[in-house]
Amino acid sequence: MSNSARLPVEMRYEPKEKYLSFQRDSLEDIESFWANIARQLVWHKNWDKVLKWDPPFAQWFVGGTLNASENAVDKHVKSWRKNKAAYLWEGEAGEHRSITYRELYREVNRFASVLQHFGLRKGDTVAIYMPLVPEFPIAMLACARLGLPFTVVFSGFSAKALAERIQDCEAKIVVTADGGYRRGKILRLKSIVDDAVNESPSVKHVVVFRRTGDNVPMSEGRDHWWHDLMAKAESYVAPVPVESTHLLYILYTSGTTGKPKGVAHGTGGYLTFAYATQEWVFDAKDEDVYWCTADIGWVTGHTYLVFAPLMHGLTSVMYEGALDYPDPGRWWEIVERYGVTILYTSPTAIRSLMRYGDHLPRSHDLNSLRLLGSVGEPINPAAWQWYSDVIGQGRCPIVDTWWQTETGGIMISPSPHLGLVLLKAGSATLPLPGVDADVVDEKGQTLAPEEKGFLVVKKPWPGMFMTLYKDPERYRQVYWTRFPGLYYPGDYAMRDTDGYFWLLGRADEVIKVAGHRLGTKEVEDVLVSHPSVAEAAVAGRPDPVKGESIVAFVTLRNVANPSNDLSEELKQHVRLMIGPIATPEAIYFAKLLPKTRSGKIMRRVIKAVAAGGPIGDLSTLEDGASVDEIRQAIEALQMAEKTAKSS
Ligand code: WTA
Repeated sequence: MSNSARLPVEMRYEPKEKYLSFQRDSLEDIESFWANIARQLVWHKNWDKVLKWDPPFAQWFVGGTLNASENAVDKHVKSWRKNKAAYLWEGEAGEHRSITYRELYREVNRFASVLQHFGLRKGDTVAIYMPLVPEFPIAMLACARLGLPFTVVFSGFSAKALAERIQDCEAKIVVTADGGYRRGKILRLKSIVDDAVNESPSVKHVVVFRRTGDNVPMSEGRDHWWHDLMAKAESYVAPVPVESTHLLYILYTSGTTGKPKGVAHGTGGYLTFAYATQEWVFDAKDEDVYWCTADIGWVTGHTYLVFAPLMHGLTSVMYEGALDYPDPGRWWEIVERYGVTILYTSPTAIRSLMRYGDHLPRSHDLNSLRLLGSVGEPINPAAWQWYSDVIGQGRCPIVDTWWQTETGGIMISPSPHLGLVLLKAGSATLPLPGVDADVVDEKGQTLAPEEKGFLVVKKPWPGMFMTLYKDPERYRQVYWTRFPGLYYPGDYAMRDTDGYFWLLGRADEVIKVAGHRLGTKEVEDVLVSHPSVAEAAVAGRPDPVKGESIVAFVTLRNVANPSNDLSEELKQHVRLMIGPIATPEAIYFAKLLPKTRSGKIMRRVIKAVAAGGPIGDLSTLEDGASVDEIRQAIEALQMAEKTAKSS
């Protein structure tokens, strides 16, 4: 690689073999490997057993007790780091707040006292629906302090999506704000919470942080202002030691059915994995200024903006707003202002900033940067190269990190801390130590290099989710039945002749729109809930910036006729039911959808038509459907698309 000579001395490439042999050693005895790392955390009681593996259920550090908030904050207030900034926060309108570890500790304790006064006990659940302000992690850590599992719902989700999640985990309290800022506008979060809570009998109280000062109705007895409660709070609440396998959080994510899956993470294993991967991948030091741009509504924010950087006592930048507001130079301004050294973001963000041209980053001083990261979707070589050349100025290695909500932390990525191997634009390189990844064929057999197949993980790792909340059967079925004994994440992958992993997108019915994960079935269910729609088939279409965009083919009931107005109405309907991220880019009205004889929609065909690619060999279509009928249906789809485009 041409820029290898320009890497800083401490980050010159190491021979791949050296890294691989360390990686292999870690897999020989995973229990002692992970136990050595877990010992770096603060435990109340040591574990009796490192791993209880009752496939497909893993329990890590069984018998051990610890507390996540103690590991994130208490440990630093006893050290010189007490006056170090934990968060350098910037609001969209330009306000700044700097929160030291001591201040964070104090606020976490006080909010834990607030929660305690509501009578919440270990095991009760809390829902959090907040804009990106420091009170967001404070609320999460306060929950963890008392052993209250929390569920964070991304503030872009609709009232219905929020209600569904609150109801599923029976949250007793919702923590929110009067609003948040997005592109200069106020997102009215409290009114969305009101709608959701009206349908959620489990919720007894709503705590509202004042962010915008907007006038919001407060329901007497149920709603409370954050600042009023905090004024009366105690300054110390002892952290409740919980079992290592105690539920830390539930994070709902899309799968192949309409109902979101509650990914349930435990405490000891998750924290150990978060702690290890933060160090291996980001190689962060005390003097770093680390900026993970993710919203805490997603897993990346949970692990790499809250738990992992705090456990390491790092200083994180937290920016509330949109990347191009008030202008597309905003991010580079932030890098310059705070002297960001490590930037971790998504391919969609990189591609959209790239579109604005090189002059914006070049007009800011980006010399502080030393490491760049990418997550959430495959990064195309062109975006990788731009990130490396223009943002990293050829000095900064890029860590392309593959992982999922389910894995808890990064699984496949370059590792500057352990010995950076030569990078290749567009490859996440090699699995991290303790991660036994492979690429297999339909039958679960390891594939030869350069052959495309399915990514699997062969051994348990401490960050793995414990189960799907209240649905262990679905956990088993979705992730462990396709290849018995192997974890199936749902991604295509390939290994090249050097053993490097190339992640090739989803192999199932999940779409990644701007890195946000959405199930096609989820959007289809919403479309058919509209009175005009008879059937719907949704697919992802490659998008130069967002990775994928959503297109929907619908057939209408007799009562309705295709029109632009109806198309807009259906888009609005999806926005309202799920949230803006799920809005289809195009709705095509079709006369019929291609189906198998047993009535299943042929996804392969829908996908191909949506992407404008070749349909493939129809004679091999499953289930012996009539080729003629299918051909007719495809023509109808293509016609629908053409008509919509020309109108
Ligand atoms: C995709 C986000 C290619 C993948 C942390 C995975 C990636 C899904 C990468 C999980 C990457 C994530 N290269 N694809 N570096 N990182 N993905 O749960 O399809 O929102 O299964 O977690 O994102 O999405 P999730």
